[in-house]
Amino acid sequence: MSTDLRELSTMLPSWLEASRRISAQGAVASYIPELQHAPSDALGIAIYSLEGHTLEAGDCSHSFTMQSISKVFTLLLALIDRGEQAVFDKVGMEPTGDDFNSMLKLELVEPGKPFNPLINAGAIVISSLIAGQTPAEKAERILAFIRRLAGDSSIAVNESVCRSESRTANRNRSLAYFLKDNEVLDDDVEPTLEVYFRHCSIEVNCRHIARMATVLANDGRDPQTGRELVPRRYVQIAKSFMITCGMYNESGEFSIRVGIPAKSGVSGGILALVPGQLGIGIVGPALNGKGNSIAGVHLLKQLSERYDWSIF
Ligand code: DON
Repeated sequence: MSTDLRELSTMLPSWLEASRRISAQGAVASYIPELQHAPSDALGIAIYSLEGHTLEAGDCSHSFTMQSISKVFTLLLALIDRGEQAVFDKVGMEPTGDDFNSMLKLELVEPGKPFNPLINAGAIVISSLIAGQTPAEKAERILAFIRRLAGDSSIAVNESVCRSESRTANRNRSLAYFLKDNEVLDDDVEPTLEVYFRHCSIEVNCRHIARMATVLANDGRDPQTGRELVPRRYVQIAKSFMITCGMYNESGEFSIRVGIPAKSGVSGGILALVPGQLGIGIVGPALNGKGNSIAGVHLLKQLSERYDWSIF
């Protein structure tokens, strides 16, 4: 069933306001100090169809850093730069069931490689696989890739969030040193983390996220020009990870209740897509106990039920 966009555009503002009320039950992330200033009751959504319809409601202009949403795009770029074999030599294909910054399984498997590219350990290894001679060059290539997919050359890194992340990243440093010791990380720790912090701190709004999601919904092709931006096979890999690990430890429940590929970040962003139909960008900084936007997940659940979006 395709989505009734006329009804959706009429109803979206009131559905969004109903979900916004749920924000009061969540809390803004504070372990990265700069993130705690985000307005906890903000909620915005942008939905773009592959035919070019654009629907927006709520706080669509609210800027936020991509955080873990960027991990989908570093994975894609690493696949483009190095190929499937080289990427999967370094990261696995399985969900962990642990927190996104957990060290636990790195010591339980041989060789101690991260279970998947969307947890912090996996994304840190992926940062080192991006082509480039220096951390600055790698970070610039990631930024250029995201600008191309979002169709906005003015997208930039939020330097104060980036500094805030770096200053407080004891856990990520531990993970990176552990990976270095396991000989899974070939590059040095600090230059790799510099790339990682910079891509997590890329600042966007939900329109950008929706635009990037339409490229994934369109199997890697720019919906406007038809040009291939990402090979279809790599989009397939990214969507599979989004289903199994994209919403942290809520990925199973999200698959049952919403049923579409999605990736969230701790600043409250969610990128989601209905394959062949829609790209969706959401921001709602108040998070639920699993670290996902509480109002964003609520809204996606309502929309998926109403329009039968589940891919299963
Ligand atoms: O490294 C961190 O903790 C943040 N830059 C990103 C965390 C996040 O969004 C959750 N990841 N899966």
